[in-house]
Amino acid sequence: MNSSNNNVKPIGVFDSGLGGLSVLKELAQRFPNENFIYLGDTARLPYGSKSVDTIQKYAEQNIEFLLKKEAKVIVVACNSASSAFLTKNKKDYGLPIINVIEPASQSAINTSQTNNIGVLGTRATIQQKAYNRVIGLLAPQYKIHSVACPLFVPFIEEGLIDDPIMNLIIHRYIYPLLKTNIDTLILGCTHYPLIKDYIQKVAGKYIQLIDSAPAVADILQHKMAVKAVTPNIKNNKQNIELFITDINSRFEEVATRFLKPVTYSNITATQL
Ligand code: DGL
Repeated sequence: MNSSNNNVKPIGVFDSGLGGLSVLKELAQRFPNENFIYLGDTARLPYGSKSVDTIQKYAEQNIEFLLKKEAKVIVVACNSASSAFLTKNKKDYGLPIINVIEPASQSAINTSQTNNIGVLGTRATIQQKAYNRVIGLLAPQYKIHSVACPLFVPFIEEGLIDDPIMNLIIHRYIYPLLKTNIDTLILGCTHYPLIKDYIQKVAGKYIQLIDSAPAVADILQHKMAVKAVTPNIKNNKQNIELFITDINSRFEEVATRFLKPVTYSNITATQL
């Protein structure tokens, strides 16, 4: 095997910060023979409050970075970037790019019995109506109820998860949805699976939460099965490299906690 062989190339994953680790964790467990490069653009977080043009520009730079690291497929593990990408991207990067919106939408459609789907997301994702557009195309009979949750990301990045203040914020965002007929709720930001249990408590047991990570892993599996992505057959030790555009004092501790039981190989500060 030489380094130009697709087999030894890593899977590239990026997000604005820690949230995409929820996707990385699922992928690393589902594909133990694969190596991963994760880019967290913490210096420019949050993406969710920025304009679509800015997010698209950041997404392009992140993709370029992962291409230089020889990624064989790129997972956009960020809903805000996926929405911007679905709206704006015209470029062909010559490799598969998987977003999180389409897989999560399909999973929600398969799950809902009431044809009413809730979406929690950042301002950018909700304002761009990415889920409305994708679900509207796949299954126009479904009604979408969306709530922008701008406070979730900063609190999660701070590690304030099991905290009374987080519980108050969850109540504030979820209550309007409980007056609708939703039975399925999309966690439309990759940070939100990190507070999934707390959201579930407030939403109640009759609402199914949709995390995009397993659906993204299914898409990747399919791409490997049809040879759009060449799988790595054997790997004695899975290599997971994290690149972060700004390392704050808490990042390593919080990243370790979020990825558990998956462990990363190293973490490097980088500039784009
Ligand atoms: N994790 C990102 C997402 O899925 C967003 C966090 C941010 O606002 O940067 O939308």
